[in-house]
Amino acid sequence: MKAIRVHATGGPEVLRLEEVPVPVPGAGQIVIRVEAAGVNFVDVYHRKGLYPVALPFTLGREAAGVVERVGGGVATCRPGDRVVSESLIGGYAEYALAAAERVVPLPREVSSRVGAAVILQGLTAHFLATSTYPLRPGDTCLVHAAAGGVGLLLCQIASRLGARVIGTVSTEEKARLAREAGAHEVILYTRDDFQAETRRITGGAGVRVVYDSVGRTTFLKSLDCLATRGMMVLYGQSSGPVGAFDPQLLNQKGSLFLTRPTVAHYVATRAELLERAEELLGWVADESLAVRIGLEAPLAAAAEAHTELEARRTTGKVLLIP
Ligand SMILES: NC(=O)c1ccc[n+]([C@@H]2O[C@H](COP(=O)([O-])OP(=O)(O)OC[C@H]3O[C@@H](n4cnc5c(N)ncnc54)[C@H](OP(=O)(O)O)[C@@H]3O)[C@@H](O)[C@H]2O)c1
Repeated sequence: MKAIRVHATGGPEVLRLEEVPVPVPGAGQIVIRVEAAGVNFVDVYHRKGLYPVALPFTLGREAAGVVERVGGGVATCRPGDRVVSESLIGGYAEYALAAAERVVPLPREVSSRVGAAVILQGLTAHFLATSTYPLRPGDTCLVHAAAGGVGLLLCQIASRLGARVIGTVSTEEKARLAREAGAHEVILYTRDDFQAETRRITGGAGVRVVYDSVGRTTFLKSLDCLATRGMMVLYGQSSGPVGAFDPQLLNQKGSLFLTRPTVAHYVATRAELLERAEELLGWVADESLAVRIGLEAPLAAAAEAHTELEARRTTGKVLLIP
């Protein structure tokens, strides 16, 4: 089968399309025939070595398709079932291995493309808005990179929970998409000072929560956007990791809360994974949550897809089709 392999960490040029054996499922594992694979920033971190993975490896954690084979002791799915997972092993491939416990059935109404487009970023938006800082009607939140994969989903989920959403984006086109996704106010943070704008929009009060996936370039200013006892949710680092900082800052800026959550800890059990995924995929199936696929490329174009994502030229989801 064809797969995108990484033999050395580095730029997009290290991604190689190679012929490798189809994986064989061990006990508790399944093999999925991949119909669509999701491209995520975590793949960039794996490719660069920011999150180390033993070399060589097949890149990609997220894909949807059809169960091809099951290993011993698998009771949760059968060959022929349509499934999706955000934590499989080697998703940028024609076939991928998964722990049977970590795959979710795809509803009939949700295609493999849409399933692969929504599961990781959607579960992320879901836990951020419903668990990390559970938004309530009347809360105001600031969502950075609001036209990105997580961003467009988070704007929709936050506004359906009754929150007032302020989004930041880099271009007018992205501003339009963020507004369509439910952002009430949009700040072009490449042009305007997002801290001053957030204070102006909130009448000086600040927001209850900042959902910050941008990291290095936004982190400190984001603290200044928060109301007293507000929560800083740093959940990514698209612009680079945040450096060391003094916790005393949290006191000075208003007894702030800081958390650095990751999806794995919010779907740690199969029960929690299914509960969140069923609600999320239910919203997709009844069309109350829109999934934007901004770029779809063949598997062989994985390097180009990474280049686009890292250059901030994508909106919504990036998919690879084997
Ligand atoms: N904690 C978790 O469990 C979890 C789960 C999923 C994703 N994430 C994180 O969430 C973030 C978003 O992921 P995604 O896949 O949905 O990506 P994305 O938001 O679609 O793409 C990243 C966006 O970040 C913005 N950005 C600002 N400065 C940037 C820079 N210097 N370089 C690149 N992008 C920059 C860009 O939007 P503008 O052009 O509008 O600035 C860009 O489009 C990533 O940091 C990812 O690691 C975390």
